[in-house]
Amino acid sequence: MPKYRNSLNVDPNDNDPLMSRRSFLAIVGTGVCLIGLGALVDASLLGFLYPNAMKEPPSVFSLGRPAEVLARDGKVFNPKQKIFMETNLGKVRVQTAVCTHLGCTVNAVETGYKCPCHGSTYDRHGRNTGGPAPLPLVYYKVFKGASGDLMVDKSKTTLDWDAAWYPPIA
Ligand code: FES
Repeated sequence: MPKYRNSLNVDPNDNDPLMSRRSFLAIVGTGVCLIGLGALVDASLLGFLYPNAMKEPPSVFSLGRPAEVLARDGKVFNPKQKIFMETNLGKVRVQTAVCTHLGCTVNAVETGYKCPCHGSTYDRHGRNTGGPAPLPLVYYKVFKGASGDLMVDKSKTTLDWDAAWYPPIA
């Protein structure tokens, strides 16, 4: 028969006011386990409440008011949406800035685009011309939304760089 029968294996009649080393370690160990368990439950609960789908930016987004968009000239990079927005003579078109190899963001260069990750190159229309990129850079559909804003729909793509131009005031 064991000398003591409680979980900490200490004598309950011991009147020593100091906590034994064994009791102290048991309490600290239990506390650490509870904190770890709490963190685990928190992480899984937050993952459940905020699934990955919510971290993706929406596929339809606004470029702004047509007059403001057309006031800019040339090609502008939008880092949040990872797109290049180009305006020319009252028309606008939007092209992805995501490399078709492994998804890095390409840079606009004199000859077109160049990916800093593995060196893929694209011509000024977005056709893949070198490196490991297997596909060209697509253009997204641009349209005028109900609010009057110019909208982009990333789910609708084209490789036709002429058809990609959208004239908002036509
Ligand atoms: S991600 Fe662009 S070349 Fe690899």
